[in-house]
Amino acid sequence: MARQPAAVVGTLQLAPSILSADFAHLAAAIAAVEAETDRVHIDVMDGHFVPNLTLGPPLVASIRACSDKPFDCHLMLTDPGAFLEPFRRAGADAVTVHVEVGGTEALVAEARGLGLAVGLACNPETPVEAVLEYLSLVDLVLCMTVHPGFGGQAFLLEVLDKVRAVRRELDRQGLAVDVEVDGGVDHVTAPSAVAAGANVLVAGSAIFGATE
Ligand code: DX5
Ligand code: ZN
Repeated sequence: MARQPAAVVGTLQLAPSILSADFAHLAAAIAAVEAETDRVHIDVMDGHFVPNLTLGPPLVASIRACSDKPFDCHLMLTDPGAFLEPFRRAGADAVTVHVEVGGTEALVAEARGLGLAVGLACNPETPVEAVLEYLSLVDLVLCMTVHPGFGGQAFLLEVLDKVRAVRRELDRQGLAVDVEVDGGVDHVTAPSAVAAGANVLVAGSAIFGATE
């Protein structure tokens, strides 16, 4: 099965986060939303950068056969550089690394060298200036709208100022870069995120936690 190309930059995209899916039935969960999925959001946590543990390259390799959509691995890791190649081999199309871990330029270059698309994430308390200097290097900027580590938290409205600032600066520089929000995104919060300039919406519990 040929893998589908990434959506055109700037178009509205939905990225289901499998963190909230039933891990015993991941293949079925991914298949159930495949038609509405623009990219699969895979939350990788190391118990150090965030206080939770999730999954690694073997799981990504297993679910690679379940979907032909681009896989974006959101690396909530203190040392993402050690895992770029394993995730690439497992079938990742993109990685999103956090600006807080440092070494951003080298990480981006290494990921690009492996043929990965690259996102740059920032936590709610991280000032927007931390990501602005890297806008020309990345494919996507992720503004976390919760403190990373767990699904099912409430959307932090104050992060919308950062979304607006990133979108404004991208427009000013004429850069085609996606702006993503992750955390607490649902049918109530999504419209404000889009109005602020986000075009990629990550949603976990709103999609996989739905009862019908
Ligand atoms: C949180 C993760 C999110 C999470 C979103 O650290 O990065 O991707 O799965 O879950 P919801 O949509 O439930 O807030
Ligand atoms: Zn995430």
